[in-house]
Amino acid sequence: MSSDAQYQRDNNLATRIAFHESYTAPYVDFSHWVLDRLPLSAGQRLLEIGCGNGEFWARNAGRLPKDLKLVLTDNSGGMVEAAETRLADTGLSATCEVVSAEDLRADEEGFDLILAKHMLYHVTDRPKALAVSRSLLKPGGYFCATSNSGSYMQQLQALLTEEGLEWYSNFTDEFTLENGAEQLGRYFSKVELEVLAGQLVLPNADAVIEYVKSTASLFPEPGSVLAACDRIRPKVQAVIDRDGAFTISKQAGLFLCQ
Ligand SMILES: C[S@@+](CC[C@H](N)C(=O)[O-])C[C@H]1O[C@@H](n2cnc3c(N)ncnc32)[C@H](O)[C@@H]1O
Repeated sequence: MSSDAQYQRDNNLATRIAFHESYTAPYVDFSHWVLDRLPLSAGQRLLEIGCGNGEFWARNAGRLPKDLKLVLTDNSGGMVEAAETRLADTGLSATCEVVSAEDLRADEEGFDLILAKHMLYHVTDRPKALAVSRSLLKPGGYFCATSNSGSYMQQLQALLTEEGLEWYSNFTDEFTLENGAEQLGRYFSKVELEVLAGQLVLPNADAVIEYVKSTASLFPEPGSVLAACDRIRPKVQAVIDRDGAFTISKQAGLFLCQ
């Protein structure tokens, strides 16, 4: 399944980032959480693959070591454009490029750290992307990848399964907190995982429906997801009427590899 339609522009991603921002309780800024675990120091050269709209760097701009040299890449032109716009006023030194993680060219200088944040599950030839990434690291450099658990947002998953829809996270099952270490271990001798468990507390059904709609183009039949939303909404509302909120559990994490 291709993620091209999903990521042509940054609107779907932005909807989901805003969803997590608004309803994660207690609130944890995932970009801050990740940054706080990266072994960064001043002057380093960093590469991000699948950078999306540059949210991670914009959000962390004031919290970074000095003089980082950033190379941000994504295979979607729309995302790279959004990242360039997003980073324009941050004062960060960044070059942005449209290139697939599998097709990155050799780089003489090398990188101190490569970040792959919530993107490896989309990469068609993951072994190639991981081998290329490893070849681009300086000796002792770090490869850092984030992802979700396979049981991510299981309450939402259950609603979609009731509708006969294959939950979109089946798509992300290609690279999860559970199966990621084994895949990374083929390319890196040291792989450590840290997990962040949390929950989303939704006070209204609209937010849940907007989230589901933002994922529609990840399903084989986006139209059936949109149609199912009319049936999912009253089910979510019934839980809110009963419990005061619709609560969704989530587990994300960071692999730190060398
Ligand atoms: C879920 S988004 C994550 C974006 C960003 N890293 C973040 O955490 O906000 C996945 C991103 O990976 C990009 N992507 C998918 N396949 C890719 C590939 N093979 N090479 C580079 N980028 C890819 C998509 O265009 C999208 O921007």
